Amino acid sequence: MTRRLPETIEARMATLFETDVNEADATLTAEDILLGLAGKDVLVSTITDRIDADLVARLPKSVRLIAQFGNGVDNIDLDAAWNAGLTVTNTPSVLTEDTADMAMALMLALPRRLVEGTQLLLQNRAWAGWSPTSMLGHRLRGKALGIIGMGRIGTAVAQRARAFGLNIHYFSRQQRPLAIETPLGATYWDDLDAMLSAVDIVSLHTPLTRDTANILSAERLSRMKKGSTVVNVSRPELIDEPALIAAIETGHLAGAALDVFDNRQGINPRLLALAEDCRVVLTGHMASATLEARLEMGETVIVNIRTFMDGHQPPHRILPDKLTARGAK
Ligand code: 8YV
Repeated sequence: MTRRLPETIEARMATLFETDVNEADATLTAEDILLGLAGKDVLVSTITDRIDADLVARLPKSVRLIAQFGNGVDNIDLDAAWNAGLTVTNTPSVLTEDTADMAMALMLALPRRLVEGTQLLLQNRAWAGWSPTSMLGHRLRGKALGIIGMGRIGTAVAQRARAFGLNIHYFSRQQRPLAIETPLGATYWDDLDAMLSAVDIVSLHTPLTRDTANILSAERLSRMKKGSTVVNVSRPELIDEPALIAAIETGHLAGAALDVFDNRQGINPRLLALAEDCRVVLTGHMASATLEARLEMGETVIVNIRTFMDGHQPPHRILPDKLTARGAK
């Protein structure tokens, strides 16, 4: 196990399997991962482990399953794993609702100035009291929300957003059935560029794949409505971050609420400056960070491992795109 998991999950795993945990809980390099794997059957990975083709080629022959603790598997080269005869599993569904809640929290935080409101009181250590014109934000009801990726999480966000009175628009590989669209009053767009110029808030809920990397490119950001905002609880690579920063700095976009951002060289100081200016809200990959989700993710990892080791097809097996309908172009 490359990271510490909740105590009860680690304890349960230790009763079922012979476990070896990265006690220090620091991000591991490929060399560190290999060091701990000699003679192991299963690698329990997370988003912080880069399992590329090179690492897959160097895995000990004993390793047959990569059981990811997480929904997204963009840190794993699925083609290389498949070619090496490895099974890969993930933990979908159990974090859907919590992630959707966080998307809504971020969506509200910007126009209702939540962070700014707290900061103001902390700075002054006092409250000047109510006034008819203080701290005015903007109403969410009646705005158009454009969801990119209408899978489990995108749909859960749409359900919440509908209750908040937003008009739902979405771009997805495929149009969702009427049974899903109708109760949401959702409008399907097969042209992302067209949707972007028609909505007030864009929220990203697609996995990171070769096709979705940079889906909000500089060109697409420029097509967005003046004064619109971006919410991202998926992956930083979906957005051209320097272009997003520039679009907010120039005032073309009103702001962004980001649970994920480029942290390879630390947080971009211009993004931090925008956060200080309350035009950006930042949280550090917290969308699925509830104790409940983490416990259910751990349970799902255990079920995947147990069924696999018992010789069954694990319930949450991930196949490379080329072998799924998703990969069919
Ligand atoms: C997880 C996530 O916490 O599941 C995902 O895809 O983005 C996160 O919410 C993380 O990936 C754990 O590996």
